[in-house]
Amino acid sequence: MKNILVTGGAGFIGSAFVRYMIDAYPDYHVVVLDKLTYAGNLDNLLPVRDNPRYRFERADIADRAAVERIVEQHGIDTIVNFAAETHVDRSILQPDAFIYTDVVGVYVLLEMVRQKGVQRLLHVSTDEVYGDIPQGYSVETDPFAPNSPYAASKAGAELMIRAYYQTYGLNVVVTRGSNTFGPYQYPEKLMSLFITEAIDNRPLPLYGDGRQVRDWLYVLDHVTGIDTVLHKGVAGEAYNIAGENERPNIDVVRALLKELGKPESLIRHVADRPGHDRRYAMNCDKLRALGWQRQHSFEEALRETVAWYVQNEWWWRKIKTGEYLEYYKTQYASRLG
Ligand code: NAD
Ligand code: DAU
Repeated sequence: MKNILVTGGAGFIGSAFVRYMIDAYPDYHVVVLDKLTYAGNLDNLLPVRDNPRYRFERADIADRAAVERIVEQHGIDTIVNFAAETHVDRSILQPDAFIYTDVVGVYVLLEMVRQKGVQRLLHVSTDEVYGDIPQGYSVETDPFAPNSPYAASKAGAELMIRAYYQTYGLNVVVTRGSNTFGPYQYPEKLMSLFITEAIDNRPLPLYGDGRQVRDWLYVLDHVTGIDTVLHKGVAGEAYNIAGENERPNIDVVRALLKELGKPESLIRHVADRPGHDRRYAMNCDKLRALGWQRQHSFEEALRETVAWYVQNEWWWRKIKTGEYLEYYKTQYASRLG
């Protein structure tokens, strides 16, 4: 592994992976391929911008000719795919981009392994493919039961990967991460939206009763999980990356308000997300057996995350303009009244 193509590397988790890999592996070259959609942001890659082992290519993973050119030009031997449409609420408003990038895009990357000499593909997937888990913990062999267009598009990609492994014997591995939080997260997801809105004393739109449970994973722990599977995962297998840190949304929101010193009166219970999964929870013994261990407690990671958004207003204030405000209006105006 010498020349790694990180697709979607200008997004939240992808950029954390790039910053980490450049530091952790001094002999690896990292090429980021990213379409720079609303969620892609070159500011996320500023810490590595001048590193001679880093390159950036603006392209679409579903554009086969462009991906082929980049693979050939950089002598890519490994692909780690983060590129996706990722926000559940946007998938409910407009599913088409999800099918295009999350399914067709992954097919193009599989073709790079089948036909263009790429030796390994790691695809970053999600716990949402298992659907709602009222009790117990999902294991990797459980059936898929996606409930949103986003989750279905991620499940579709995984089925394609499975088929390519079974049919062509490709060297492919999959990770399924749980709800991830940390610095550089586009401010549309629960943590990054609510922290930045609370800083401005704006109302926090909590869906339904706020008792839905998510399993919170710090972004650096997600990244080391992906690194572990990249280097040690068995071809054809999937690995859960769990935070093992289940919290009802209302508790998460109270914790971040406390950290910010803001009042709970900012919380507004608003109309629920359609098809909203009540709980996700996974078992990650299979990943632990490869030697991975989480390094960050929820409390410490939440403190660091809140502090980062407080100290880096330059990063998120310029996002909260234009397209962002249009989306915010569509999603929240009628909910907040
Ligand atoms: P993000 O939305 O922050 O970033 C997505 C990136 O993909 C952006 O840089 C965007 O420009 C790029 N992209 C989108 N469409 C593209 C295309 N057609 N071609 C090339 N680039 C394109 O996402 P994230 O939260 O960092 O998630 C990264 C991956 O991890 C996704 O595959 C997501 O499904 C998965 N995941 C996310 C979480 C989470 O909680 N955020 C948890 C588990 C898994
Ligand atoms: O579980 C992994 C998934 O986590 C990833 O695959 C997705 O890419 C990522 O977006 C995330 O999906 P969720 O839908 O769980 O995350 P989100 O931050 O959108 O919502 C977390 C919870 O908070 C969920 O129960 C919905 C709720 N919520 C969210 C928003 C944005 C609110 O109550 N109000 C909000 O405004």
